[in-house]
Amino acid sequence: MKNSYTQKQQYYGDYLALDKILGAQFPESEAQNVDAHDEMLFIITHQAYELWFKQIRYELDSILEIFGSDQVNDNSGALQIVNQRMRRIVEIWRILVDQVRILETMTPMDFLDFRDLLTPASGFQSYQFRQLETSLGLRMKERHQQAYYKHQLREEDINKIHDLESKLSLFDAVDQWLKRFPFWDIEKYWRDFEVPQGADPNLHPFWATYKHTYQQGLQGLERTRIAMADFDLLFFGGEDRQTRLSPASCRAVLFINIYRDYPLLQLPFQFMEKLLQIDELMANWRYRHMIMVRRMIGMRSGTGGSSGAKYLKGALDSHHIFADFAGVATYLSSRHLSPKLTRAMERQLQFRV
Ligand code: HEM
Repeated sequence: MKNSYTQKQQYYGDYLALDKILGAQFPESEAQNVDAHDEMLFIITHQAYELWFKQIRYELDSILEIFGSDQVNDNSGALQIVNQRMRRIVEIWRILVDQVRILETMTPMDFLDFRDLLTPASGFQSYQFRQLETSLGLRMKERHQQAYYKHQLREEDINKIHDLESKLSLFDAVDQWLKRFPFWDIEKYWRDFEVPQGADPNLHPFWATYKHTYQQGLQGLERTRIAMADFDLLFFGGEDRQTRLSPASCRAVLFINIYRDYPLLQLPFQFMEKLLQIDELMANWRYRHMIMVRRMIGMRSGTGGSSGAKYLKGALDSHHIFADFAGVATYLSSRHLSPKLTRAMERQLQFRV
């Protein structure tokens, strides 16, 4: 890209291509001379969603490019840029959740005026929404009712999803980035670290200490409910491990959560917060959409032919992308129990000049 440009005499409507955008609403009821006032709102609402999806994809693609080019290291400004763009995505999702309210001014009877005219089209076929989910990290094998995709989406749209799946997703990019967490070298950073008696001598000093104090800190029922075998599986791996996020990344996530007040960990912590916010806001959207659908069509099937609200509930329950990051919270212990870091580690976690 170049930095120089030619100054043109712009006109508002041309610059924004308003003729195209404002001329792109074609209510089927109008074409067929059917009385259905609310179809215009239905179309414009969907188009507004699609425009915001486009902006989210644009931000997401740029974030993936930064991760893909390996610029994200602790001393570069890249993580700052990533966080700024993640924040934008979060804010757009807030608006998208809130926007459901406008369509809710349409009553079920108003919807029935034109519902049959749009069958079998459905938001299910929104390829931008599918691309967005895929770029974040949702894989076809994890999708609720996969067979339904084959029936409902055009082949070219299914291919778009598969193509994207073969590229780097945000989930995988973050996993690779966290795996490189560089501070486990015992000789360099952990030589003076005090390991309490009774801690596992086979583990890294920090993890031996952390596991020991965590276990000691469990109270009441949790002492029996939380199996330390699960702690080992999550942070050190094993055959029965179900978690997608790698053990090394789970260790980094826990460490960043505990020591997030150190300057070097602040941006990574904020970034992880944003991953969870996006997941939560998308779940909120799925929930609001499902409730709206229930109110609009009760237990009828969707125009796309699914079981309607029942399908949407299944997708809501199973399409959390960054749940592993939240899962680590099970193994956080309170601040006063957190091991004190060595001087060498503390020095590493300060900003360097
Ligand atoms: C009257 C309003 C709406 C109704 C009754 C409705 C109904 C449904 C139903 C029943 C489904 C399940 C698939 C099917 O069988 O069709 C669905 C999926 C979907 N709809 Fe809507 N919808 C409405 C508005 C919207 C709006 C405004 C959007 C914004 C883009 C949207 C986006 C989606 C998406 C992305 C899915 C797929 C969700 C997933 O698979 O997790 N819908 N909708």
